[in-house]
Amino acid sequence: MKHYLHIDDIDSMSSWLSLAAECKKEPFKYKKLGEGKVLGLLFFNNSLRTRLSTQKAAYHLGMHCMTMNFGNEGWALEFEDGTIMDQGKAEHIREAAQVVSQYCDVLGVRAFASLTEKEQDEAEMVLNGFRKYASIPILNMESATGHPLQALADLITISEHTKKKNPKVVLSWAPHPRALPHAVANSFIGIMRQNPQFDFSITHPPGYELNPEIVKDVPVSYDQNSALKDADFVYVKNWSAYKPYGEVLNNDPHWMITQDKLGEASFMHCLPVRRNVIVEDSVLDGDNSLVIQQANNRTYAAQVALLKILESL
Ligand code: CP
Repeated sequence: MKHYLHIDDIDSMSSWLSLAAECKKEPFKYKKLGEGKVLGLLFFNNSLRTRLSTQKAAYHLGMHCMTMNFGNEGWALEFEDGTIMDQGKAEHIREAAQVVSQYCDVLGVRAFASLTEKEQDEAEMVLNGFRKYASIPILNMESATGHPLQALADLITISEHTKKKNPKVVLSWAPHPRALPHAVANSFIGIMRQNPQFDFSITHPPGYELNPEIVKDVPVSYDQNSALKDADFVYVKNWSAYKPYGEVLNNDPHWMITQDKLGEASFMHCLPVRRNVIVEDSVLDGDNSLVIQQANNRTYAAQVALLKILESL
């Protein structure tokens, strides 16, 4: 595997899940594979889990890791070709990506959606800029439209905790004061669609329809209570509207996840989460919350993705 950009880069779900379980049991088993290799991590946006879990995964694989908060510390990058660079942008992606390729063997990039420039976001301007001009494999650490490391960690978590072959999994929108990207929801939907053994559906208020090319035939309900009935796993996430792009249409607090709504289901969220806005305290602090286990699985998701990349070098 040359890159891990999208969940479609997972060639065999079952073998990736087995490998994640193996890495969790014996984290340093493949330490030799990354020895002498450098992982560069460029962050255009904030992070806690992605940054630390990917560094830990690299450590397990024997890699040296270099991290840069590019958004604050790097030169402002130009992505357009043929531009007269006489304004704020100091460096072109063409040079930046080639230079980084000389220092690193694998490059992780985090670059969120602008939520204002839909065309640029959907073209994955930053991620694909590095993919185009770097000569090394790229690891997507959350891009404008996807978060494949999170989705893989989510799948690992469900697989570890399900007691059924065909659990009911519901993705529920919840309120949030700010406009948030679609990336986590998109990749979760994608990985659920790739695993048709799950009885998967989505619930959100009217107007929060996600990209139909991603949702495809997944059932969608505007009635959260009926959608959550008898669920085994409830994955909660806010996202802004897809149309009109990036707007907050409503913040109805009735969509917050409460213990009553959750019932016996397990609660999932990618974190960070706003307490008593997205979900009430008693759910997060209760026995049915899987959020800490999900965050732990970010290490093994990153380790499997890096391992697959290292095998192809
Ligand atoms: N879930 C997730 O990606 O967390 P961070 O934004 O803290 O990396």
